Amino acid sequence: SHKGVFILGIYVTDLTFRAARMPLLGETIAGSAFKMGPGGKGSNQAVAAARAGAKVIFCTRIGNDAFGRIARATWETEGIDARATVLDDQSTGAAHIFVDDKNGRNAIIVAAGAAGTMVAADIEALEAEIAASAVFVTQLEQPLAVARRGLELARKHRVITVFNPAPAEPVDDDVYPLCDYITPNETEAAALTGITVSSVDDARRAADVLLAKGVGTAIITLGEAGALFHSARHSELVPAFHCGPVVETAGAGDGFTGGFATALANGDEPLQAVRFACALASLSVTRPGTAPSMPTLAEISAVLQVAA
Ligand code: RIB
Ligand code: NA
Repeated sequence: SHKGVFILGIYVTDLTFRAARMPLLGETIAGSAFKMGPGGKGSNQAVAAARAGAKVIFCTRIGNDAFGRIARATWETEGIDARATVLDDQSTGAAHIFVDDKNGRNAIIVAAGAAGTMVAADIEALEAEIAASAVFVTQLEQPLAVARRGLELARKHRVITVFNPAPAEPVDDDVYPLCDYITPNETEAAALTGITVSSVDDARRAADVLLAKGVGTAIITLGEAGALFHSARHSELVPAFHCGPVVETAGAGDGFTGGFATALANGDEPLQAVRFACALASLSVTRPGTAPSMPTLAEISAVLQVAA
């Protein structure tokens, strides 16, 4: 009787460099800070969900190396039931994250390493665990074929599916009908629909395209503006919360998706789940790091209470 959140995705170690500005090609500049910590969208979502109170199973691949040991220590500390295949001939992945000191915005290179070699059999081996979950979540950092197989298995067992199509990559048309919910940001929504998203109206148009492709409900995250919830029956902008100065936005989308899945697994109405997700993400941007910046359930509840 799991009935928690099942997450398929990657772990990488985040190597975060802060500087006053981005270096130009061929240029060397001095950074203001460096930090190493757990990352990868799937693993970040697992940490967000676990801290928000969900029972979490996480499926991935890592290497037999120092970064892989950080991964396992992280999952153990966070109480995540990780089903990670450990490969001897592949490195655990890493992400180079550049953070602009002035506004907390980021640019990322992620190399998935061992997790990039995942195959459909990895997720097929966990069909019983998926069947016992309330919500299934995946992204696009591991091969799309593996994500699709996971979504298919979840659908087969009537498990709620949440697809976070990140980073922006092409998605085959047969994937959309497998998604009860899709959670792209502006860039990803534009990549999937061809509609540039720079306003709420644009987001509505992009969301309509996603519904026409077969998605149940589209939730487009809009940074500091919040998130657009858009289904055939209801469309509403859920505002972000102001929880303090913005320090680092990397990982906010992961916090959002992990929080949304957690609230759905708890039986929340979808719109209430979006509010919960916004509160989680709004807290995470006030703290450095990706996974390390995810708040606890008590912190999220406090933000929602003040707003109520
Ligand atoms: O969404 C943020 C994450 O994307 C980072 O943790 C980095 O690892 C990249 O995968
Ligand atoms: Na953060």
